[in-house]
Amino acid sequence: MNIRSLGRWTVAAVGLSAVGLAPMLFNPAPAAVVARRAASADDAGFSDWRGVSSCTSSACHNQAGEGNFKGREYAKWIGKDPHNKAYQILFDERSVRIQQNLNRSEPGDKQLSASCNILCLRCHVAPEAEKVVDASPVWFSDGVGCESCHGAAGKWLTAHVQYGWKEKSLSEKKNDGFTNTKDLAVRAKTCMDCHVGGDRADVNHDLYAAGHPPLQWEYSSFLERYRPYQHWSEADDRRRHPAYEAESWAVGQAISARAALHLLDTRAEEVANDREHKPWPEFAEYACSSCHHDLKQQRPPALGHKAGSPAWSPFVDLTTLLPEHPSLATLNELRQTMEGRSPDSHQVSQMAKSLVKEYDEWLRRSRPETDFGPDALRERLELLSGPEGEKIAKGGWDDARQLALALSAHYRSLNAVDPDPRLGGAVRGLEGLLRLPPQWDTPPRYDPEAIVNVLRDIDNRLKNR
Ligand code: HEC
Ligand code: HEC
Ligand code: HEC
Ligand code: HEC
Repeated sequence: MNIRSLGRWTVAAVGLSAVGLAPMLFNPAPAAVVARRAASADDAGFSDWRGVSSCTSSACHNQAGEGNFKGREYAKWIGKDPHNKAYQILFDERSVRIQQNLNRSEPGDKQLSASCNILCLRCHVAPEAEKVVDASPVWFSDGVGCESCHGAAGKWLTAHVQYGWKEKSLSEKKNDGFTNTKDLAVRAKTCMDCHVGGDRADVNHDLYAAGHPPLQWEYSSFLERYRPYQHWSEADDRRRHPAYEAESWAVGQAISARAALHLLDTRAEEVANDREHKPWPEFAEYACSSCHHDLKQQRPPALGHKAGSPAWSPFVDLTTLLPEHPSLATLNELRQTMEGRSPDSHQVSQMAKSLVKEYDEWLRRSRPETDFGPDALRERLELLSGPEGEKIAKGGWDDARQLALALSAHYRSLNAVDPDPRLGGAVRGLEGLLRLPPQWDTPPRYDPEAIVNVLRDIDNRLKNR
């Protein structure tokens, strides 16, 4: 994809579909990607950041040796983890181009560089990057470092190496700024702040048009992608959660949906309160292919959307298949509003807020009670490969891939307690058909029949044990 965008109106020739654009209400306000520093009392003047270098003593997280990573977290992060160059990337050619495009649409042609843009820094260093600014910009070069995920260490650095740390309650640790990444929901939420975005930082259509790569987030597949770099022991995860993959999948689906809805609420509310002249409706909420012919193969329309209108498709949540899932009715109502003529930002914000509440409720109440025992895993595999699954597979490549990820997660967890090689072959076959290709292009042709055949095969194998 090359960057030809000079402004919101100059690029109509790149192959936008008139059908897709017709029902939308355009707000021609200029792109308002504003570098603004948070000015709350909390952020002013002091810092809790200590930087990666405070974790790297050879007695702490930089021990010598091979094998298990305990005590070698720094070595693992500095050696391989893509997060360690997240800041560096802001100096490369792509970032310079993105920032130039953004500068061009700023009133008064303000010249800013990506490495100084707090918007970029909030994801390429830490969601609370302004605290780092106040402390020492030198630490920017850490990129997404230990504290970006584990929390600013000023209040817990000393305590966590002393006797008594293990006895501290989780809420005491949290008050000190320590993030409990052992909790699967907290862990997923930590990634979302940067990989989906939220009220602190947003990759919106202005950033895409300026050239930012699309954030294509699916939690369990990203955990899988992170595996080669990960600096914690999977055995520990499995000890705490015997069905680790299936649980992570369920939590990840709900937390991702929650994050996407919160982002939509933030976008809608900013417009409703006219705090900033943001374009509305925000194009990044819709399937790119609704408007871009040249992106057609990259994101097919989402399940159940009306032909002729842009498909609202920020996430696919298959936990709606689980009992006591967040309300499908409200979700469908929101979809209809977003896909209708000139969605009302107040109304959208209200609906998104109420759905966020429902997801929170599900995460708090129903998720901990969800059964992840072998029988429940089998039952869910049957659900996913049965008629419900076939319906999802027919919704397009994106939906089918979500389905395949769900099947794999459940199969892997089942395999840990009750291996079944005949099932494994079929599940891997499905993964193969829907493998995420390099970069982000989807296969040129999507054949739902081939997927349905494999689903039926899996279903048969489950039934004829
Ligand atoms: C909401 C968080 C967020 C914001 C804001 C953001 N980025 Fe990113 N950026 C990401 C994530 C996450 C990735 C990795 C995407 C992936 O691989 O799935 C990324 C990837 C990139 C890449 C590609 C890196 C690579 O190795 O391929 C560049 C370049 C980039 N961002 C530049 C910028 C610039 C410049 C800005 C500010 C104008 C910015 N980003 C703002 C989250 C963000
Ligand atoms: C992208 C987010 C991320 C970054 C960056 C990160 N961590 Fe972690 N870390 C995690 C997650 C998730 C876990 C797994 C849950 C847990 O054990 O707390 C973890 C686990 C750990 C553990 C516990 C390991 C165990 O086996 O019990 C330590 C110690 C740790 N990290 C230290 C570090 C240090 C030191 C750095 C910087 C060099 C770092 N982390 C950077 C996310 C991150
Ligand atoms: C502070 C922001 C931030 C947090 C928190 C964060 N990431 Fe990232 N992540 C990024 C950015 C930015 C990149 C792109 C880095 C680059 O390409 O230089 C990235 C890259 C990645 C990649 C490589 C993507 C690719 O295309 O290969 C994986 C995998 C990943 N992150 C997983 C995770 C997981 C899992 C978590 C949570 C445990 C997490 N990240 C938390 C910002 C973040
Ligand atoms: C509702 C219609 C609509 C949707 C949906 C939409 N775009 Fe756009 N896009 C436009 C318009 C209009 C322009 C030209 C004006 C501008 O730059 O904002 C554009 C411009 C662009 C450009 C710069 C021009 C080019 O092709 O070089 C990129 C890149 C882009 N969009 C990417 C995306 C991506 C990625 C998505 C999905 C996340 C997306 N768009 C969704 C309407 C849309």
